[in-house]
Amino acid sequence: MSWAELAEDLPAGHQSPAGRQSAQTVIDLRSDTVTRPTSGMRAAMAAAEVGDDVFGDDPTVNRLQSVAAERFGFEGALFFPTGTQSNLAALMAHCGRGDEFLVGQEAHTYKYEQGGAAVLGSIQPQPLEHEPHGGIALERIAAAIKSDDYHFARTRLLALENTIGGRVLPIDYQQQVTQFAHSRGLATHLDGARIFNVIVKLNLDERAAVAGFDSVSVCLSKGLGAPAGSILLGTRALIAVARRWRKALGGGMRQAGVLAAAGLYALEHHVERLAEDHVNAEYLAAGLREAGLKVTPPQTNVVYIEVPASQIEALRAHLKHRGVLASVAPRTRLMTHMDLTRAKIDAAIQAFRDYPHWRA
Ligand SMILES: Cc1ncc(COP(=O)(O)O)c(C=O)c1O
Repeated sequence: MSWAELAEDLPAGHQSPAGRQSAQTVIDLRSDTVTRPTSGMRAAMAAAEVGDDVFGDDPTVNRLQSVAAERFGFEGALFFPTGTQSNLAALMAHCGRGDEFLVGQEAHTYKYEQGGAAVLGSIQPQPLEHEPHGGIALERIAAAIKSDDYHFARTRLLALENTIGGRVLPIDYQQQVTQFAHSRGLATHLDGARIFNVIVKLNLDERAAVAGFDSVSVCLSKGLGAPAGSILLGTRALIAVARRWRKALGGGMRQAGVLAAAGLYALEHHVERLAEDHVNAEYLAAGLREAGLKVTPPQTNVVYIEVPASQIEALRAHLKHRGVLASVAPRTRLMTHMDLTRAKIDAAIQAFRDYPHWRA
């Protein structure tokens, strides 16, 4: 549901004079991707020096790529419009036609990218069950690696995600699993769409947070407040292959410096403040628990609540009436982000509290 749809039948207090829902009054808990660029970010975008990035001529894109490569300790970095494309280009750079990657059942690269690796990359996914912490057990990985037999796809890559469903992978697990994968001849890719939530939560530097991975995809549009943009990190050789695939996938952008400027601004101004989102997630979770809901304790900016199947429609309608946007499901994910003030969170908690049918 978009907020334009939401606006159609909101009470008058939630509508702007023009009769349209205002971004200021909506309490959007659906994702941390719904943030609007701040005025400082817009000013940086307007002032960006640009050039044609397909020719490598955009100075702002080049600066973002070198800043990211340096901060994360990689030789190369490449700017993409989206995380989906950055992940896919990475998988295609690691794996060829008929190769296989090992991946969690709930991973974005497996479940939420339309099977792009298989559809567009001719790469077979081997999905595996997760451990409670969000990783995959080493024994499970070992059992899934195919032997060198022409009946089997060639297992080339292990892909993990951090954070995954708001959970932070334990750092010792990350070290063990990447070492193990390498010892078995696999490359390692990290979907680090929300790696800055890990960095802030564990108080690590960027290099420590991604140690052991051969490539990492980092999103600037999730939690950090940029309107678009992801960065793929890897060796110079891997990035050269990914650059070719980026063009084939339609991701060769021209004066992309206006977007890269937003990314640079986000890296400079919006990383430390993720701690506020984590505190707000705790606050939201506590408020909802007090209101009688079953809540999974959040580790970062994601709060899961359980909603009885019989209540989904009615709760969605009730929240909508109160100006709260949530993707209501049996396991509802609510996310905190930089456009959610404490007052909005209080209003959201109150809206849940006022829902009359919890025990129906
Ligand atoms: C963990 C994760 N990886 C990758 C993506 C894909 O990013 P994009 O929406 O920019 O394609 C998302 C999107 O929400 C995500 O949550």
